[in-house]
Amino acid sequence: MNTILVTRKLPAAVLKRLESIGSVDLYAGESPIDAGELRARARGKQAIVSMLTEQIDQSVIDAGRELKIVANVAVGYNNIDVGYARSRGVIVTNTPDVLTESVADYTWALILSIARRLVEGDRVVRRRAWKGWTFDFMLGTDLRGKLLGLVGLGRIGRAVASRAPAFGMRVAYSSHRPSDVPPIEGLSLERLSLDQLLCSSDVISIHVPLLPETRHLIDRRALARMKRSAYLINTSRGPVVDEEALAWALEQRLIAGAALDVYENEPAVHPGLLSVENVVLAPHLGSGTIETRTAMADLAAKNVVEVLSGRSPLTPVLV
Ligand code: DGY
Repeated sequence: MNTILVTRKLPAAVLKRLESIGSVDLYAGESPIDAGELRARARGKQAIVSMLTEQIDQSVIDAGRELKIVANVAVGYNNIDVGYARSRGVIVTNTPDVLTESVADYTWALILSIARRLVEGDRVVRRRAWKGWTFDFMLGTDLRGKLLGLVGLGRIGRAVASRAPAFGMRVAYSSHRPSDVPPIEGLSLERLSLDQLLCSSDVISIHVPLLPETRHLIDRRALARMKRSAYLINTSRGPVVDEEALAWALEQRLIAGAALDVYENEPAVHPGLLSVENVVLAPHLGSGTIETRTAMADLAAKNVVEVLSGRSPLTPVLV
């Protein structure tokens, strides 16, 4: 009999799918399962359905000697030691594609909310500090005719790019991949070095995975290269941006603003970011719609069913 550890409450239909292939040990706590309990519950399991809040490190994989699959409910998999899992014959899967459009929509929500000072305006109204319409009150910036610079042009970067014509923005990108990316219909995409992109973009949006080489990719030096009128958007992973450096750049007005969905040590946020007005701080909701989260969980469950049935996973992590 297969047993499957699920580290968070998931929709009933998803649990039912898992129950078709084994018995489910559901951790139903509101906060993330602690590391000791995760190790203890991994023992004797053939599968773990994990969230990005769980560190599936060597100790968890060693505890789960019978593990065949770790199915992460996220497209990112920086919370899993994929190399070690592979060395122990454990398949790792993620949930690409099903969240692409939701994260792209959310990225645009962040771009618009910082450029048009939406959240800052909401704060003014709520504290009853708004004195009524005036000609030059809380003016934002138009996006039309400006340059959107995408750091990384994978699935989500491309979906963000494809929405740019609706807002009249031009698009450039930088990529660590040596070859040019396939074209996007109706869009001319300029490839630049990261440095050129930083210097010339009006909005920089980050769409790279967290890897050793992308940790603190946006540091003090990078922020100092950006235009003073530019905005930084991050919906990828928090540690890609040096939060302390960003707080400094915002405080010094080296850049016009930032909108973040992800943080270096979630749920903590650098105090320097909490005290400046020119940043929108969202609680990691890029993929946060009912439809998308359900599709992500269901894809993870399908991966478990495939692997425990002796078939190939649908969306394996191949690194
Ligand atoms: C992911 O899938 O990596 C997202 O960050 C989850 O919201």
